[in-house]
Amino acid sequence: MKALVYHGPNDVQLDDKPRPSIQHSEDVILRVTSTALCGSDLQLYHGTVPGMEPGQTLGHEFMGVIEEAGPQVQEVKVGDKVVIPFNINCGRCWYCRHELWSQCDRSNPKGELGGSFGYTQVLGGYDGGQAEYVRVPFANTVAALKVPDSIKTDEQVLFLSDIFPTGFFGADMADVQPGDDVAVFGAGPVGYFAVMSSFLHGAARVFSIDHWPMRLNKAKDLGAEIINFDNEDPVERIKKETGGKGVICIDAVGYEAVGHSGRNNDGENSNGSNSRSKSGHDHSKVSNPAYEPANPLQVINWICQAARKYSTISIPGVYGAAYDQFPLGQLFNRELQVRLGQCPVKKYNEQLLHLIEVGRVDPTKIISHTMKLDEAPKAYEMFDKKEDSTKIVFKP
Ligand SMILES: NC(=O)c1ccc[n+]([C@@H]2O[C@H](COP(=O)([O-])OP(=O)(O)OC[C@H]3O[C@@H](n4cnc5c(N)ncnc54)[C@H](O)[C@@H]3O)[C@@H](O)[C@H]2O)c1
Ligand SMILES: [Zn+2]
Ligand SMILES: [Zn+2]
Repeated sequence: MKALVYHGPNDVQLDDKPRPSIQHSEDVILRVTSTALCGSDLQLYHGTVPGMEPGQTLGHEFMGVIEEAGPQVQEVKVGDKVVIPFNINCGRCWYCRHELWSQCDRSNPKGELGGSFGYTQVLGGYDGGQAEYVRVPFANTVAALKVPDSIKTDEQVLFLSDIFPTGFFGADMADVQPGDDVAVFGAGPVGYFAVMSSFLHGAARVFSIDHWPMRLNKAKDLGAEIINFDNEDPVERIKKETGGKGVICIDAVGYEAVGHSGRNNDGENSNGSNSRSKSGHDHSKVSNPAYEPANPLQVINWICQAARKYSTISIPGVYGAAYDQFPLGQLFNRELQVRLGQCPVKKYNEQLLHLIEVGRVDPTKIISHTMKLDEAPKAYEMFDKKEDSTKIVFKP
């Protein structure tokens, strides 16, 4: 079968691999009908996530039809179409019983963290769904996302595997209340669904911050007020718009944040001169921002200043242990709480599916490209540039 395989940093290829087979009694083999490319795949692609080994099939956002089922699979059957959450859940451990689905204790034989598809050895090294077929363990737990007859296209529900619940988790962790003003940093797919979910939580205004017009315009279509950080200082604009009060902040960017590096968190360039504005954005250096060196804490530093005092900062964007420096002083002084982590996808699935079913939300609007799986290596290059794509779906 065809599978999109990691060969090394910035090198993914479509390989021929043996079709997976049932290994445990609760496994199913899924024929993938649709799969998508996520910002988290880019971190793997860049080779910056520890434990990534050549040979790994990528992809953790996928859905398909059950082709084969192990003898202990009772909740779904051959022929069912299901969306698969990116976290693997046993359904029976202490964490699963408490709906802390992202930290299942039995799904990762290689370590402490919960298992995940198409990710590194640290999360179990399971082959992913950017392939024609994939083995899904503990398949009794995926029954909640059996696709109902009312759903006409894969694209309507595919993002229930990850980015829609993750964006919703962003708003939920931030405890967005009716009437709150919210800022979502990053207008990628997770940011898009965090904007949508903030409105679903009752936000009065939502600011969307990024620097790619195509992505910002998608957020604008949802009703967000957009801030292009190449043109203006996001902290100053947010403070101005909110009469100095600040906003509830969601970081939908993570450690691959671009910024204007070469300066420390106190506003000084590495040569000691202070040439940046209050928010840390150096307008004198905006040349080709897409390719400026990453500045992992850029968004965190902006958020620490733009957040409403005593609010909760929500960080669905990924930060690895290598980025363990944190502006504790600002957090303490402004009494900011922080919540972050991997989304427990199953927690939100049924209510989000219902919002789609009744037509309250249309997740398909984020899609910019639908491509054949054969084109995946090209798609990684394009999505990595971010400029001309918002979300890419593959058809194996
Ligand atoms: N917590 C979870 O369970 C979970 C699940 C899915 C994705 N994620 C993470 O969410 C993050 C976003 O995912 P995505 O698919 O939207 O990724 P993406 O890479 O497509 O989008 C990130 C966006 O952030 C923008 N950006 C970069 N620097 C910025 C800055 N300084 N200020 C504002 N915007 C900036 C980029 O231009 C880009 O549009 C990634 O870190 C991803 O790994 C986490
Ligand atoms: Zn993802
Ligand atoms: Zn479990």
